[in-house]
Amino acid sequence: MDKILVHGGKSLEGDVRIGGSKNSALPILAATLLTKEKCVIDRVPDLSDIHYMLTILSSLGAEVERASGVVQIRAEKIITEAPYEIVRKMRASVCILGPLLGREKSAKVSLPGGCVIGDRPIDLHLKGFEALGAKVTVKGGDIFLHADKLKGARINLRGRHGPTVLGTGNIMMAAVLAEGTTVIEGAAEEPEVVDLARFLTAMGGRISGAGTQHIEIEGVAELHGANHTVIPDRIEAGTFLVAGAIAGTRVTITRTEPEHLGAVIHALKEAGFNLSHTSDTVTISPNGARKPLHLETIPYPGFPTDMQAQFCAMLATMNGTSVVTETVFPQRFMHVAELKRMGANIELIDHHATIHGVERLSGAPVMASDLRASAALVLAALPADGVTEINRVYHIDRGYEAIDEKLNGLGAHIERVKAK
Ligand code: EPZ
Repeated sequence: MDKILVHGGKSLEGDVRIGGSKNSALPILAATLLTKEKCVIDRVPDLSDIHYMLTILSSLGAEVERASGVVQIRAEKIITEAPYEIVRKMRASVCILGPLLGREKSAKVSLPGGCVIGDRPIDLHLKGFEALGAKVTVKGGDIFLHADKLKGARINLRGRHGPTVLGTGNIMMAAVLAEGTTVIEGAAEEPEVVDLARFLTAMGGRISGAGTQHIEIEGVAELHGANHTVIPDRIEAGTFLVAGAIAGTRVTITRTEPEHLGAVIHALKEAGFNLSHTSDTVTISPNGARKPLHLETIPYPGFPTDMQAQFCAMLATMNGTSVVTETVFPQRFMHVAELKRMGANIELIDHHATIHGVERLSGAPVMASDLRASAALVLAALPADGVTEINRVYHIDRGYEAIDEKLNGLGAHIERVKAK
């Protein structure tokens, strides 16, 4: 397995270009199953998770062509059973259930496993499919969906930990071809849900309210092909802003969407950094004293759970005591043990991390785990004394396109060591 070596102590300066959103591209690629016609999706990031999704779509019978960031898909004839050996690699594969049910009224997909950030139930997805008229059977680790027809329904998708992002997308993709109107209450408001709704609308779907907790989908008989450009990745953008906070003199992220970054920009300003933006760039620079934070992750537009680990890395060397509370995935603290190996002083009680800032972290061999925890370790290593060796770097490659090259472009010194 590849690993990366981060030589600490370099300061970052300059511009870095943000790629297309992984969490928007995945359901949009799945949504191309809803039509027999060709779809062209632009600004699809080059990530292993995207590769897995394209492999799944091909295995279902879709013709898939990729040329740099542009993907062409034509799902003229498809089967509705996805192979376990691919689905098991990526939990987000669950978002093919909605389009398969919507188009073919049938689906067989293996239950997504849990992952290091915690149990990843899909009870709300299945509740929504049943409300639309599908028979849901879970047997032998597989989910079977079947419906004679789908009828619009009123569905509440709010769970214990708030709305479900992929659940909202899945129900939209099934309801768009149902008979009658579906109302989703407690829908996720994330920009990725809005982007999916835009694509479905371009295909001929009738959707209103995306971006609010109340979405209405008026079913249509069929959908046609469409072209779409994916929104910028707000979590990659936030990650590079934190890199600028941790080790930067002045870092600008370009081709981004500042309005998707409101909570992250607010938190960085609270921590004492200077931030300015234009319509598609955000610039961060230090501003003297830096302050500890009390952060709580909540659904969009609140502070995103996908930025929690990166902020823990920044707060580890922030003078004073910070508290980070994780309400979306309460177990999502795999990065804490690794940060402590680098000298961080963090106490974990339930879903709260109390971080006592230390002067500087020290490089050490650490283990990547989930996607965002791995990115947090890279960030923590930037100002650390000495070299940090990050193993299992495939976790990072799932969600960040060439993060080492992009950071080196800003002045970091990161080496990627290919496995022998
Ligand atoms: C999406 O996952 C993202 N992944 C996650 O990003 C992100 O952390 C998450 O939304 C929350 O913002 C993709 O979009 C591919 P949820 P998703 O359903 O949709 C509970 C990353 O790092 N829940 O919104 O799977 C669930 O356990 C990844 O890029 C149920 O209880 O997350 C969690 O506590 C990690 N029942 C909460 O809801 C359900 O049926 C939010 O989960 C579904 C979810």
